[in-house]
This record gives sequence, structure tokens and C-alpha cells, in this order.
Amino acid sequence: MAEEPSEGERRESSDETVVRRDRFSGGPARGFLSSLSDDERIFAADLAVDRAHVVMLAEQGIIEDDVTGEILAALDEIEADGHDALTDGEDVHEAVESAVIERVGPAGGKMHTARSRNDEVAACIRYRMRADLLATIATVIEARQRFVEMALETRGIVMPGYTHLQPAQPTTVGHWIASYEQALQRDTSRLLDAYGRVNQNPLGSAAFAGTPFDVDRERTAELLGFAGVAENSMDASATRDFLVEVTAALANLATTLSGLAEDVIVMASKGHVELADEYSSTSSIMPQKKNPDTLELVRGRSGDATAGLNGLLTNLKGQPRAYNRDLQRAGRHAWDAIDSVTESVEVAAGAVTTAEWPVETLRDAAGEGFSTATGVADLLAMAGMPFRTAHEVVAEAAETLGPEENAPDYETLDAVCADIVGEPLSQFVDREAVEDALDPVQSVAMRDSRGGPAPEAVTEALDTAQQRLDEDGTALAERQDALAAAAAELDSEVESYV
Ligand code: ARG
Repeated sequence: MAEEPSEGERRESSDETVVRRDRFSGGPARGFLSSLSDDERIFAADLAVDRAHVVMLAEQGIIEDDVTGEILAALDEIEADGHDALTDGEDVHEAVESAVIERVGPAGGKMHTARSRNDEVAACIRYRMRADLLATIATVIEARQRFVEMALETRGIVMPGYTHLQPAQPTTVGHWIASYEQALQRDTSRLLDAYGRVNQNPLGSAAFAGTPFDVDRERTAELLGFAGVAENSMDASATRDFLVEVTAALANLATTLSGLAEDVIVMASKGHVELADEYSSTSSIMPQKKNPDTLELVRGRSGDATAGLNGLLTNLKGQPRAYNRDLQRAGRHAWDAIDSVTESVEVAAGAVTTAEWPVETLRDAAGEGFSTATGVADLLAMAGMPFRTAHEVVAEAAETLGPEENAPDYETLDAVCADIVGEPLSQFVDREAVEDALDPVQSVAMRDSRGGPAPEAVTEALDTAQQRLDEDGTALAERQDALAAAAAELDSEVESYV
């Protein structure tokens, strides 16, 4: 342990801190250098990090218990006064330290023993991002739950399915929304995965090169709820790759949502869905308009997330070890992305699950453009005709359709079959089976392979989805509980000194 400085030395060193700050940060670039207002985001995180650090310093015998109590009491006051009351400092870390010294006197300067703002800010960002991530994951899980319920309710509503935006095959609203639940399942696991790498303790790395003090990095990890220690001190102070992971997962999530939004926008333009009024907007001039603006904004916000990812990677690229001030501009990309995308998840889920599905319109539309053609070809192939030949027969029959016709009749198919195969259609299938295959509802019911759109297949898939959802809910709750337990432990340690 370092030798205790005398009272005089203490004052001198704290005065020097003040002088140095003025000298380097008080000039015309003061505002440019400052992150104090941005740091509001990590104000509470900074106080927690300070508390855990100070408690650990006391436990290790690095600072005295009475000084510890005074510093911790000052931190409580600073918390009560709020971030806006901070003035003196180019960032929240300096400003909180100044506020502590103002209350405690020079001994308050002991708070910054055995650390640097570099490991401090990294800890604050991780601490705050963790909470934000859990909130986002909770929102995604909630959306998935709503989608699973909606899919169960709408698994019998037949609707047109498209590829290239051209009528392709009939499907159901339930199968469609379940497809997004499935994508959100992967988005959830990417976010949970990123969480594991965010949740590591950089404290104790100091500027980058460690410290001669006998710090206990595992203890600060425990008090802050970090699951482990970011081992190498140079890496721990320098890296922001965990923010890249989070932002990339968010960009992926936002891209999922943008596709969902686009689907609904197209559906709305065709009258295939009726959005609830509260998720619609009107025109200031065209009185009849009801527009899907909420979903257009969900689609547009995917740009916020990809911009965040791009901004972050651009900020980080080529930064040398170990700390550079560029990093002060890194966090904002991730904060912007997570705020924006989390709202998008809520709004998209709200808009989709409150919408009305016009059953008859959708069923009629489901048969448009000879969307049952694949089913007819499948039927012939199931009866022994090579699929390629069946494809040819049905394609030839499709050629005969007029602009208003949705499907060829049995007679047409029969004639084409005789022409191409040399045998009548009845050699392969009876009229009733063909007519069933031409019916969009039957067409859907036939496609009951695993993961397919037939209502029973959707029901089964939703069982699995629900199990997965429950597992993810448990994973979320475990993480939330671990953070709450750590916060309670930190509180009680703090109380024992104050
Ligand atoms: N406010 C800075 C940041 O957000 C931390 C300060 C570290 N400053 C320094 N000159 N080493 O990254």
C-alpha cells in the first residue's frame, strides 16, 4: 500500500488537479472537449462505479473507513442533486470527483486512487448498456409473446403470399406473423449473446497499464453485478467492441422490423389490413387519407441503427492502443441506436397486433394470379408425374388465362395434360382433387410439412416458439435478478460506511 500523504501534500495535489484542469480544459475548446451533458446517460452508472470502487478500496485497506464513509455520503448528496447540478469538470467523472472534493475536502480526492477515467468510463458504459440491453430484450420478448398469440388467432386466415411482390402461394396471417416471431427469436439471442460480453468488469485496469495498488477486480465486479473481469488491462480500457456487437444486433433487429413494416405498408395499400387509428396518420390536405406512418417510421428508423453501427465502426477503426479521446464520441452511436430501435419494436408490435384482418378480402386475394399453381403441380407429382412435367403442364395451362381469370378450369388442365403427356388428367388425379388444389384454403391446408402454413403445422411451431420464449424470459429474469442482487449488496455495503 502507498504511504499516506501528509495533509499539506493532499491539499497541494488536489489544488494541482484544479489548476491542471483549468490549464488544459478552460480555453476556447472547453465545450468541444466536454462530454458533461452527454454523460447524463451514465450519471447513475458513474455513481455506482464510484461506490463499488471506493468500497473495494476500503476493504483492501487502501483508503480509511472514515474517508470512505464521507465520500459515500457525498455521493448520496450528489445523486440527490442530480446530474444538472454538476458543473466543474469536462465529463461526469471529473465533475462528480470535484463535487465530492467540494463536500469532503482534499480527502475526497482519494476516490480516484488506483483508477483512471479510462477504466471508469468503460465501466460506466458497460453498466448502463447492460440495463438498456435488458430493457430492449424485455421489449422484444413482449413483442414476440404478442406475435405468438396473434399467430394462434390468425392461423386460419388465408392470405396471399408473395415473392418478388408477385402473387406466389396462399399462406395465412398466422404463418406470416410467426415468421417474424422466429426472426425476433434470433434477434433476442444475438442481444443476449452481446449482453454476456458487455457484462465484464474493466475496473482495475486504470489508464491501461494497471496499478501498483492491491485492487480486487473481482470484488468490484461482484458489487457491480459484472459476471467476470475484462482481463487484460490494456484491452479493458481500450475496447468498445462490445458496443459494436450490441449495435450490430440492433441493426439486425431493425432490419427485421423494417421488413415487417414494409409488408404491412404494402398490405395496407391493397386493403389487406386495416390499421388501428392510433397507429395511423392522416394528411393535412387530403381528408380521406389514413396512412401507415407509424410503420413507415419503423422502416425509416432502421437507418438509425445502421447509421449507429457505421458511425461506431468508423469511430473505432484504426484507433491505436490504449485510450484515445475519439472514444468519447463512440457511445452516442450505440445509445441512439438502442433508444430508436427499442421504440420501433414497441410501435411495430402495437401496430401489427391491433390491426384488423379482412378475412374475405384476404381469401379472395389469396387466389389471385393463379397462386395455387404450385399446389396443382405438386398434386400431379404426388400422383407419379415427374415434377418437371407437372410444372410444364400447369405453366401451359396458366398461359391460357385471360387478365381477369385466376386459375384454369379442370377441362383446360385436362386438355393441356393430354397434349403434353399424351394421357388425360384423370389418369393421374380426379376432378375433386384438382378442384381442392385450386382452392386457396385447401391449398394452404395441404402444406402441412414442419414449419409450413397449414394451421396444424403453425400450431405445432408455435408450441416450440412458446417454449423458446419462456426460456428467453427466464434468461432475462436471471440477468435482471443478478443485477438487482448486486445493487442490493452494493447498497448495504455503502450503508455500512455512511
Ligand atoms: N470522458 C472521456 C470518455 O468518455 C473519459 C475521459 C478520459 N480522458 C482522458 N483524457 N484520458 O471517453
